[in-house]
Amino acid sequence: MSSKNDWEEDIVRKILAAFKAPKTLDQHMCSILGYAGSSQAAPLLVEGLRRMEYRGYDSAGVATSFMDRILVKKGVGRVFEVNNAVNLDSLPGDVGIGHTRWATHGKVNEANAHPHLSSSNGIAIVHNGIIDNYLELKRELSLSGYTFRSETDSEVIANLLQRNYDTTRDFKKSMITTLSQLKGKYAFIAISKDGGLAAARFQEPLMIGVGKHGYFASSDILGFVRNTDEVVYLDNGQFAMLSSKAISISDFEGNPTPHQITKISKEFADADKSDYVHYTLKEIYEQPITILRAGGMTTRELDWLAASIVRSKNVYITGSGTSFNAALIGKYLFSKYARIKIESLISSETQFSPVYFDSNSILIALSQSGESADVLETANIAKDSGAEVISITNVMTSSLAHMSSISVSLNCGPEIGVAATKSFTSQLAILYKLTNKLCGVLDAPDFNQISNNISKLLLNYSYIQQIASELKNVSDIYVLGNGIHQYVAMEASLKLKELSYIHAESFPGGELKHGPLALIDSNAYVVVINPGDSTYASMSTATHEVKARGAKVIGISNIPNEIYDYWMPLPTVDEAFYPLIEIVPLQLLAYYSAIERNANPDYPRNLAKSVTVK
Ligand code: F6R
Repeated sequence: MSSKNDWEEDIVRKILAAFKAPKTLDQHMCSILGYAGSSQAAPLLVEGLRRMEYRGYDSAGVATSFMDRILVKKGVGRVFEVNNAVNLDSLPGDVGIGHTRWATHGKVNEANAHPHLSSSNGIAIVHNGIIDNYLELKRELSLSGYTFRSETDSEVIANLLQRNYDTTRDFKKSMITTLSQLKGKYAFIAISKDGGLAAARFQEPLMIGVGKHGYFASSDILGFVRNTDEVVYLDNGQFAMLSSKAISISDFEGNPTPHQITKISKEFADADKSDYVHYTLKEIYEQPITILRAGGMTTRELDWLAASIVRSKNVYITGSGTSFNAALIGKYLFSKYARIKIESLISSETQFSPVYFDSNSILIALSQSGESADVLETANIAKDSGAEVISITNVMTSSLAHMSSISVSLNCGPEIGVAATKSFTSQLAILYKLTNKLCGVLDAPDFNQISNNISKLLLNYSYIQQIASELKNVSDIYVLGNGIHQYVAMEASLKLKELSYIHAESFPGGELKHGPLALIDSNAYVVVINPGDSTYASMSTATHEVKARGAKVIGISNIPNEIYDYWMPLPTVDEAFYPLIEIVPLQLLAYYSAIERNANPDYPRNLAKSVTVK
């Protein structure tokens, strides 16, 4: 005969076996949006989701509360595809939530798409982040009779809220209990069938839009920017209860917390493509202006920043992806011109690296979004060890900006294209200003001149289209650069990979003979970044080496040379400033190669704009 404990354990075992628990958590970098007001919710939600889609675009869905029921429509694909298929925007009701998903783990299917309903259909949620204790909660809830329809961790929030609501019959109280039971990093928005809307934030972004005809809760300003420019930023550990007429914000224990309404910059409302076919193209073409706007620091702030760097014994610079490539150029500039010893850290590697931050250290963290989990982790490690963190970011309300002692704005407007373009040159512009402040020996960059040069390059794009058409069926491209240009080569090969899906690799020219030359034959295409500066002779040697093996050479230089099969002309500038200019035609080459190969440059497969998971 089995005891009660044995019997319970047996049930738990059976339930666990029945779960077929996913091997990994369903992690998201998603957009969440909610609305409560006097207008129809679904069309506003679909429009907002479309604008935020750059954060995730595997699947989409909307739920509304209508006549004491929750109605849900969702599916796999981009917002417009799902909307065309199931008319998300036709759902009736003036309270609703919406979601676009980008799954790093877990299947992309309709069942896993949000919103998720509680098993009795009384509550629906959309969620961004990870619930660490979801298996434990799922087991508990199942024992109490709650059922699950997806493999996601998110669904436990809906059932947990439902269970707490079934006990309290009070939506706010059920939020408080639920928040005390969840572990992980999350932002979620929930609706109840009787029209309640609640939104909670813990280490994932969430803000409230205060409109004339209702309130929005969103992971991103772009979710509501067409409807209002007034925003309340929720702090970590706060939740909001929203109705068509009021919001109340509390901490997780339910104590009311005061809030402030901030006006957001109108420029966010410009986040459409205007006449451009793609955001990526628009953003490449904005660079003559955005490099001029970068930084926007007062002389005092610049002095303060420079003083902090000089005062620190150990200077580190970090970033991921494109931001890391910018960090490498920063490191080069600081060491070569300001003679500052500086170490670069690739953010995702910091936890495995022998790095010893202390109170004499400063970390310069670069991140367009300010939300990359890897960068935040590095910044947290630094801060916890007493180091000062300063950041260069495009989102001054981001988690990174919040945790930095000073944050410098890229000020380049929203970057919607998943591939970083204008944010890279804006990061460089700020690093140049800072280097100049640090040493004064680097000639003050004439950004107006550089901006004119970039405009001229952008006007003359048809030859780049031609080269791109040559690359249509190419499988490998190598990008070579020496000195400061090797980091531009790294960035160019990253752009080629993610936009055109061509296998691209970069090397310093001198490294060819140490191995990569074995790959070069008449099928290879090699881009040589070869301006007439101190690197010219060495890169010319590398060019001859690849040419002799039959490779097709795309030369990017201010000096024409017959050895190039294709020549991308550059203006003549000071060696230090070439990166700002030479990356631009290479971004265009990646963009047009994507077009030639029928890839959507705004939404490269498998990638998300803001990588908020580890
Ligand atoms: C490349 C790209 C990514 C990002 C990286 C860091 O085009 O977009 O490599 O640069 O994910 O993102 P942020 O700068 O937002 O931290």
